[in-house]
Amino acid sequence: MLAGKIAFVTGAGGGIGRATCQLLAKANAKIIASDCNVTSAKETIGILEGNGHMAIRIDVSNGKEVNDAFNNIIENYHTPPSIIVNAAGIIRDNFLLNLTEEDFDKVLNVNLKGTFLITQKACQHLVDAGKPGSIVNISSIVGKRGNRGQCNYASSKAAVETFSKSVAQEMARYNIRCNTVLPGFISTSMTEGVPDKVKDMFHSLIPLKRFGKPEEVAEVIKFLSSDASSYVTGTSIFVSGGLE
Ligand SMILES: NC(=O)c1ccc[n+]([C@@H]2O[C@H](COP(=O)([O-])OP(=O)(O)OC[C@H]3O[C@@H](n4cnc5c(N)ncnc54)[C@H](OP(=O)(O)O)[C@@H]3O)[C@@H](O)[C@H]2O)c1
Repeated sequence: MLAGKIAFVTGAGGGIGRATCQLLAKANAKIIASDCNVTSAKETIGILEGNGHMAIRIDVSNGKEVNDAFNNIIENYHTPPSIIVNAAGIIRDNFLLNLTEEDFDKVLNVNLKGTFLITQKACQHLVDAGKPGSIVNISSIVGKRGNRGQCNYASSKAAVETFSKSVAQEMARYNIRCNTVLPGFISTSMTEGVPDKVKDMFHSLIPLKRFGKPEEVAEVIKFLSSDASSYVTGTSIFVSGGLE
């Protein structure tokens, strides 16, 4: 289904990023797994089906590292990746009255600026090469509904969605699509440390009455990455068990 395609995934050492790499590799894509923690990106590569994959370390919030990484990829594969999945993300939760400027900036820098830097660089290379592409960005249901203790995270995720819609409109003329996935509460290392009280609150609100699995988000990312969604751009898909 994705034979001959190269997929570049950020946050590839994490729950959703790793599940996405696994699913795309199973569909015969070659995977570039990137993470700020190169050991976890290498672990992801180690469990993938097929060959021709590579792991690279990138801090997505650092423009020079992003630029160098794309040069490295093109040197290796002689073509830019046509599937981009921006799954790197962080939380630094605190209530508004206690939230530090540093934690506000850090979350916006990784979640929003990182998505911008990777998307821009990928699009520049695709446009230069005259190739089509598909970009999938990860927002969150809290980017729609807000959340106590997550002013920084929720606003970064709301911005990722409108950023993606704008990219979709600008890049359509180059046949580069851009869509957003909005996961609900997914069991990964990001949600591991959430206090039981908060988990119970979310659980009670989810119509399907369970938390999601990273593989369930990866399935939707695969759809948006592939030609099965060739007429889909600038849209957002909830993967949240019905919670909006
Ligand atoms: N899990 C959920 O319930 C949920 C819900 C909605 C949206 N999302 C979003 O889905 C995406 C994936 O989340 P996840 O649940 O899979 O979380 P995760 O397991 O924590 O994975 C995130 C990955 O991103 C990496 N990362 C952090 N900062 C980075 C940076 N500056 N540059 C490159 N990589 C960086 C992390 O590395 P380290 O571990 O070394 O920091 C980690 O490997 C995120 O954007 C998240 O906001 C998750």
